[in-house]
Amino acid sequence: MAIKLSNRCKLIKPSPTLSLSAKAASMKEAGIDVISFGVGEPDFNTPEYIKVAAHKALDANFTRYTANAGIMELRQAICEKLARDNDLQYAPKEILVSPGAKASILNVLIAVCDGMDQVLMPSPYWVSYPYQTMLANAEPVYIPTEESSSYKINGDSLQAAIVENPCAKVLILNSPSNPTGSVYSREELAAIAEVCVEHNILVISDEIYERLVYDGVKHVSIASISPEIKERCVVVNGVSKAYAMTGWRLGYAAGPAHIIAAAGRVQEHATSCVNSITQKACVTALREEDDSIENMRIEFSSRRDYLYEELVKIPHLTCFKPQGAFYIMPGIKWFLENNTMGIDNADKFCDVLLEKYHVALVSGGSFGMEGTVRFSYANSIANIKEGVKRFATFLDELASSE
Ligand SMILES: Cc1ncc(COP(=O)(O)O)c(C=O)c1O
Repeated sequence: MAIKLSNRCKLIKPSPTLSLSAKAASMKEAGIDVISFGVGEPDFNTPEYIKVAAHKALDANFTRYTANAGIMELRQAICEKLARDNDLQYAPKEILVSPGAKASILNVLIAVCDGMDQVLMPSPYWVSYPYQTMLANAEPVYIPTEESSSYKINGDSLQAAIVENPCAKVLILNSPSNPTGSVYSREELAAIAEVCVEHNILVISDEIYERLVYDGVKHVSIASISPEIKERCVVVNGVSKAYAMTGWRLGYAAGPAHIIAAAGRVQEHATSCVNSITQKACVTALREEDDSIENMRIEFSSRRDYLYEELVKIPHLTCFKPQGAFYIMPGIKWFLENNTMGIDNADKFCDVLLEKYHVALVSGGSFGMEGTVRFSYANSIANIKEGVKRFATFLDELASSE
């Protein structure tokens, strides 16, 4: 008889973005010219100055286990970065370095959540937040948002969610956001912070897309709003997106020492320290940044402009203009309501688009937002041009068929 899986694990579904990438990759292997807007990772190489630092660490045989929380030099470099970019003062004992920001969030959730606890998150949300919450034995609670309010929560909607959910203990906030690209302003964060302080809610502030902001918008960390919210905040960040280092696996959490220490104990028995070479490379990434980082941001900005301009030309499509990250999430409700070609939900829409036009998009249903699809523009401008042309042809076909 097959061994039964745990009830907890039965709740966990595969990551839709990773499954989509796998499907697109197998179509490509079969010789099909697929354009994938699925992946959430920069298509650039890791900058040379970071690779040189990694080579040096390897040549110096820096290859052993390190302190579980990360080497002191790196935790100091992270403290310097938080002071320089975010106006936040932390000491190394308030920093935990983990194998990716994903691991940082899970470690913190496990450190603070018990069985009855609820974890609030604006919807649409990043695909992993609900499952990470369930892995931590807590319950995800979604706060709905709309395109007309830039897919953001505010003090009132947060207050209402807390009143309705008395076991709410944590809010996961992600600005700039995956999947919408919306960015919270200082004023909006101040209103959210006030409610969190009043109800003693811990904010896990996922700032992984901090560096990817456009149109002169400035990223603000909610922890910098006041000392009261900083005491109730864990800032999560990493090198994957800004430094094109997704495969190196390094993220970090900064927060109150007792939470960081507890999250560190979780990590000690789960994964232990991050790869030693990666840690050394990240000291250099953070301290000796060159133009390549800003150049990647500028390139993302022009891709966003191109894709957005093309999408808004398509009749019946609605499109929120993102201010950050590298995603655009247009609304396809009109097409689904017309139910042409039997397509009445975003999953089916994406399946037909992939099969017929060889364009891979992620269905908004995966992010808790039915009636939308997500483009990642971490793709070459040539691919974006061809992909959006095919997408527009598909919508034209849908609009004109009975
Ligand atoms: C919102 C968000 N947070 C965290 C992560 C994880 O980043 P890392 O590669 O550091 O684990 C991602 C990656 O896609 C993300 O989109």
